[in-house]
Amino acid sequence: MTADIQAKTKKTSQVSNSKIAVLITGASSGIGLALAMKYVDQGYQVFACGRNEQSLQNIKGAYPLVFDINDKTQIENAAQLLKAALIKSQSSLNSVVLNAGSCEYIDDPVQFDGALFERVIQTNVISMGYCLQHFLPLIATNGRVGLMSSSATYLPFPRAEAYGASKAAVNYLASSLRLDLKAHNIGVSVICPGFVKTPLTDKNDFAMPMQISADNAADEIIYGMKIGRNEIHFPKRFTLILKFLSCLPNVIVNSLLSPKPNN
Ligand SMILES: NC(=O)c1ccc[n+]([C@@H]2O[C@H](COP(=O)([O-])OP(=O)(O)OC[C@H]3O[C@@H](n4cnc5c(N)ncnc54)[C@H](OP(=O)(O)O)[C@@H]3O)[C@@H](O)[C@H]2O)c1
Repeated sequence: MTADIQAKTKKTSQVSNSKIAVLITGASSGIGLALAMKYVDQGYQVFACGRNEQSLQNIKGAYPLVFDINDKTQIENAAQLLKAALIKSQSSLNSVVLNAGSCEYIDDPVQFDGALFERVIQTNVISMGYCLQHFLPLIATNGRVGLMSSSATYLPFPRAEAYGASKAAVNYLASSLRLDLKAHNIGVSVICPGFVKTPLTDKNDFAMPMQISADNAADEIIYGMKIGRNEIHFPKRFTLILKFLSCLPNVIVNSLLSPKPNN
């Protein structure tokens, strides 16, 4: 994160946000946890969502909402709890960050794992539809929705058939939703991080260039949401390289990114 963003984030944190609420899915770990803790520090009322109740309870000052994003009924129940809590505290829901997600790779492209593909699409995309169904009506005018995608969508990567497809769907969802929510004065940000050090990436067995901390990622997201960016991508030195490569002819991109054949 640049010193510029750090200064601006600090400045925004001085504004009183006592009646402004933020909901974050996937707040029990990684980027979502860092986001939740920073929003609490800045004085927002934070609804921290996830399945791991203990981790959510550990976020001092946040209101835990325990539910599985792959269970429609649990999402609906969580939205009812949220609505009641907002009324009780007379808060307005200003931001919803649909951050929860998972990553699994296709290890054998010939024995394509359809169940894995379904799991990843379900968790990263389908769940967003139900979260939007139940949380969008609670967002205040001039509020904002942040949808977690990935900079992996800028280029095709090996083994990322499921993860990349799920995040590419999120990009389209965000672009289309932005058009339709404009008339309702609700903004939509799509969030495209590079590599961020979290339990999700700790499992990766490959080099992750220019990896940043979850803390830095959270600063970038909070700042981007605050100033109403349509696309929040970081770290710029990494994402701009990917964006540049994505402009090259396919034949070059494919030869750069294709795995070398086994002998
Ligand atoms: N780390 C990176 O480099 C990177 C880069 C680009 C994009 N992203 C995206 O950023 C988001 C957060 O990832 P992260 O790196 O912070 O990973 P993480 O530490 O593994 O966090 C994932 C979060 O999602 C929640 N989650 C997963 N499945 C869920 C389910 N079925 N129901 C409810 N919550 C669920 C988890 O909560 P519970 O386990 O408590 O349910 C956890 O809080 C993901 O969408 C990921 O694709 C990450």
